[in-house]
Amino acid sequence: MRTLNLAHRGFSGRYPENTLLAFEKAYEAGADGIELDVRMSKDGQAVIFHDETIDRLTSGTGKVNELTVKELQAIPITNPLQSDQKQQYIPTLKEYLSWVQGKALLTNIELKSKDELEDGLEMQVVSIIRQFDLEENLIISSFNSKYIQRVKHFMPSLKTALLLHSCTEKSIQLADDLNADYIHLKKGSLNPRNILMAKGFGLLINTWTVNEVDDLKTANRLGVNGIITDYPDRLKTIQADQ
Ligand code: G3P
Ligand code: CA
Repeated sequence: MRTLNLAHRGFSGRYPENTLLAFEKAYEAGADGIELDVRMSKDGQAVIFHDETIDRLTSGTGKVNELTVKELQAIPITNPLQSDQKQQYIPTLKEYLSWVQGKALLTNIELKSKDELEDGLEMQVVSIIRQFDLEENLIISSFNSKYIQRVKHFMPSLKTALLLHSCTEKSIQLADDLNADYIHLKKGSLNPRNILMAKGFGLLINTWTVNEVDDLKTANRLGVNGIITDYPDRLKTIQADQ
């Protein structure tokens, strides 16, 4: 089985992260899938954005969950990477799913939160997913095990992934206890021992965020299920050569 090429926040190495432009460019570059981050807006809509605040990526300021979708989408994303591209705005999850519907792309939705869960984000995401016929092509991931537990409870057929900063037998055991389908291993924890351990629990493995050519080659050789990268074009070239 070929290792899947998953574009981290879209083709974020060259286009503004988590925008419809970055997703389109990842698709054009031949990615097998897209990883994106989801948070809740003030008016209870799932929006695609990585940070807790909009400060790093827009000219505005404030927390995502203290702004409505209308307010969020009135502030353009600043784009230091490609000045010749159309102005981008923070997309909603619904806008993304409408775009991806009908395309042969896997989507990894990461649920973002701090220790406390944001109000009903997992329920909101599950309810949006039910409106689209995409369940087969989705993975819901989170560092927060409560999200994984609740998603599996509300929609047991959805595939889930526990994100791990470090890999121990205890963390793999937790993923197994949660009935997660995958662990998502940080690049530094990717080694044959951890892969063997996870496989021993019947877990699938994706790794993040792998960008350098040598690291991509190594991860590709190790035979994980998927590699999450800012540069899907690099991985595509490596896979064509190997
Ligand atoms: O899903 C893997 C990776 O995206 C997790 O870290 O901070 O890039 O969302 P971050
Ligand atoms: Ca992410």
